[in-house]
Amino acid sequence: MKITSPTTKKLDQILPQNPILLMGAGPVPIPEEVAKANTKVISHLGEPMNSIISNLQEMAQYVFQTKSSKIFGISGPSSAAMEMATTSLLWPGRKVLVLNLGTFSARFTEIARGIGAEVKELFPEPLSPFRAHDVKKELEANQYDVLTIVQGETSCGIKNVELESIVKLAKQYNVRTIVDSVCTLSTMPLYMDEWNIDIVVTGGQKGLSSIAGVSLIAFSEEAYEFVSNRTAPMPHWCLDPRRAFRFWCKQEYHYTAPVNGIQALYEALRLICEETLERRHARHARSSELLQSYLEGMGFELHAPKSCRLNSVLAIKNMPGIDAKKAITHLKEKFAIEISGAFGLDIIRVGQMGEQCRSENLMRVLKSIGLTYQEFGAKVDLTQLQKDLENPALFSL
Ligand SMILES: Cc1ncc(COP(=O)(O)O)c(C=O)c1O
Repeated sequence: MKITSPTTKKLDQILPQNPILLMGAGPVPIPEEVAKANTKVISHLGEPMNSIISNLQEMAQYVFQTKSSKIFGISGPSSAAMEMATTSLLWPGRKVLVLNLGTFSARFTEIARGIGAEVKELFPEPLSPFRAHDVKKELEANQYDVLTIVQGETSCGIKNVELESIVKLAKQYNVRTIVDSVCTLSTMPLYMDEWNIDIVVTGGQKGLSSIAGVSLIAFSEEAYEFVSNRTAPMPHWCLDPRRAFRFWCKQEYHYTAPVNGIQALYEALRLICEETLERRHARHARSSELLQSYLEGMGFELHAPKSCRLNSVLAIKNMPGIDAKKAITHLKEKFAIEISGAFGLDIIRVGQMGEQCRSENLMRVLKSIGLTYQEFGAKVDLTQLQKDLENPALFSL
């Protein structure tokens, strides 16, 4: 029997008439330049792609703060970049210490187990980041080849504030490090070379304010050298860095690269370079601080203690008696704003990455959350916010 053509709908018939403002844990809104770049189809080989790649790598070196030339784009989500990193350094017989702070940190465990590496997970105290002295104890007690750590754990809004000490420490024990900066890169400082990190992975759809599905990975020269000399078979073909090297460093064919996505990423990185990291970090910090202080002023409590609170994805305690899922749906239906729920915790999460940290978006999300919870019967004090919203200069970012 032949299958007949279905009744089709144009995309516009499915998309909401009022575009949804994405204020959750990603994807985030993208600048016009990025959106425009994402519509351009060009050949994946030759010029102008070669120039795009070399300029993109130079800009990425700035964003990762590395001199390494081994920076590759990946046609896949951030998880694919995590997979490239993990499978490059691990194989059966090798051992990894996973610092497990939540859902995304734990993804390293799943990937490493999948390739037959030996995994030990370390967990921090509740509502705390990892402490260098605890990691040191573990490194002294057992030998590892690799350590994985997230800079910010999106699922619970906690930041590994001792990241620098932990990765430097791992080096002292001859342990290679993989850092997940998926929700943090360009929103807060990360110095790949200065901190001596082996591999950093990030995604497009978060801090960089590019599109989802095209990610970036940076290998230190030394880590790449190690990978290029490995004799153990590589489980991946697409995610083999030695093959990616051909496209990204030798202008040869690996697979047909995501040409639109690479151009989108190019524009996203260019905008970061123009803004400069210093100003971008300051904008993110200010936006998140405003968000936090107005939410607290309204009566919300924040999930993570201030000392380790992740600015780029803010975890907010749900109010007693309120169904968080319903509140999130209401925000979407009534205010055309999307925020995120959580992985098993009674929290809501608001993103503060890239374009989310713009005055209008900040004001809109604050007001909509406040009104939603008020409509749901929670004790929310909107007096100060309503007053301050009349003076947008207070929110200038
Ligand atoms: C810290 C962190 N790591 C990894 C990922 C996985 O990203 P992706 O969904 O692009 O694979 C996410 C996604 O939210 C994340 O926040």
